[in-house]
Amino acid sequence: MKDKSDIGLVGLAVMGENLILNMASKGFTVTAYNRSYDKVERFLKGRAEGQSIRGADSIEALVDSLASPRQIMLMVKAGQPVDDFIELLVPHLDAGDIIIDGGNTHYPDSNRRTEQLHAKGIYYIGAGVSGGEEGALKGPSIMPGGAVEAWPAVKAIFQGISAKVADDKGQLTVPCCDWVGDAGAGHFVKMVHNGIEYGDMQLICEAYQLMKEVLGLSADELHDVFATWNETELDSYLIEITRDIFAYKDQDGSALVENILDTAGQKGTGKWTGVTALDLGVPLTLIGEAVFARCISAQKAERVEAAKVLKGPAIHFTGDKKAFIDDIRKALLASKIVSYAQGYVLFQQAAKEFDWNLNYGAIALMWRGGCIIRSAFLGKIKEAFDDNPELPNLLLNPYFKDTVLDAQQSWRNVVGTAVANGVPVPCLSAALTYFDGYRTERLPANLLQAQRDFFGAHTYERTDKPRGEFFHTNWTGRGGDTASTTYNV
Ligand code: 6PG
Repeated sequence: MKDKSDIGLVGLAVMGENLILNMASKGFTVTAYNRSYDKVERFLKGRAEGQSIRGADSIEALVDSLASPRQIMLMVKAGQPVDDFIELLVPHLDAGDIIIDGGNTHYPDSNRRTEQLHAKGIYYIGAGVSGGEEGALKGPSIMPGGAVEAWPAVKAIFQGISAKVADDKGQLTVPCCDWVGDAGAGHFVKMVHNGIEYGDMQLICEAYQLMKEVLGLSADELHDVFATWNETELDSYLIEITRDIFAYKDQDGSALVENILDTAGQKGTGKWTGVTALDLGVPLTLIGEAVFARCISAQKAERVEAAKVLKGPAIHFTGDKKAFIDDIRKALLASKIVSYAQGYVLFQQAAKEFDWNLNYGAIALMWRGGCIIRSAFLGKIKEAFDDNPELPNLLLNPYFKDTVLDAQQSWRNVVGTAVANGVPVPCLSAALTYFDGYRTERLPANLLQAQRDFFGAHTYERTDKPRGEFFHTNWTGRGGDTASTTYNV
């Protein structure tokens, strides 16, 4: 073990412990610190035994044990605990030392902390870490942002412990970790990752409900369907675990998944993504619907009552089951493309708003392995932005355009069948609606502008005049010619 540790890690919950073990297995020396020292002792005597890991029983001991510039990674609950630890650490640190927050922090907090610590000469990195406990141990996806001056110092550890994907020669050498951008950019990218995770999960759930309710598929049959889908463009971690979930039996031999209460939890990152999209004026409809789908699932008692009185149509399906399953696969793929297209538009808008130089292809690569949304599909997104870094919407990339157009009829068939049978498909239908909205040259917003001008003199632009010229009509003859100011939020 080296005299001085390469990095200190605060917070010995499962993610923290696993990250330490991962770092030690890659040859780094790590100091472990936790508010209660008995946890550190237990760790040192247990999983950490015989490895290049030392413990610290005080903040002073932690700081003293580290090589310069000191690197301290916080794996504590997002919010106040992060501020509390920063406050404890700062008096013991020197200029140029680095604090890294690896939690699911809301990006405005990372914006604030980067600035506050910069004023004290300390570098702050807000790093999104994805992949759950197994990822933390074997190779997570890491999305660091903040003080770029600190990147050369932390790069070796971060890229060393991250997941790796194949290079041109098929060797697993490309790290799923790269510098994302200034201030809270790393946590912003992680937030969008989680929003996309919500969308992907909800789409899979809608496919499941359709196959179960409309086609009457059993858990074993669903296992087979997801196993087959995982061999297609849908190949991904979430499809893979879904396949395995359907095969998992409860003690009585029934499928465990069918014995789980249908109320979803959420820790807030999907909501943040939706709220940010509203703030930035980006139509992130699929993730929004995925968050709301969790909200409506949580109203279990009310739904049970409503189900008694609000009767829908009886399930009626006469088509070819196999063909419909393939339609669902295509609808899922097309909807997933829409979800990523929307997420990337959010990135583009955030880059403008916050003056971040986001590398869209690199983000896709960071998500290609290690994280919860890892999938083969992300390689195609990387290629799309390599071909055209200014691509305004993924739907305009030739591969994604062709895939969506090829899936279009199946997609309409699936959403139509779901609606006719009264099966809710908020994300599949939101994706199709976005697709139709995006490809419609003339939307009915002309009427909307007329309504706004009618009741509030909010003005409108004309089809026969240049953009930026605003007109007001005295629609009733009772209003004046005075228009209200023309501004948009
Ligand atoms: C990851 C996950 C993780 C997230 C959980 C729970 O990338 O490893 O996104 O960060 O906390 O998935 O999120 P919800 O409780 O909101 O579903």
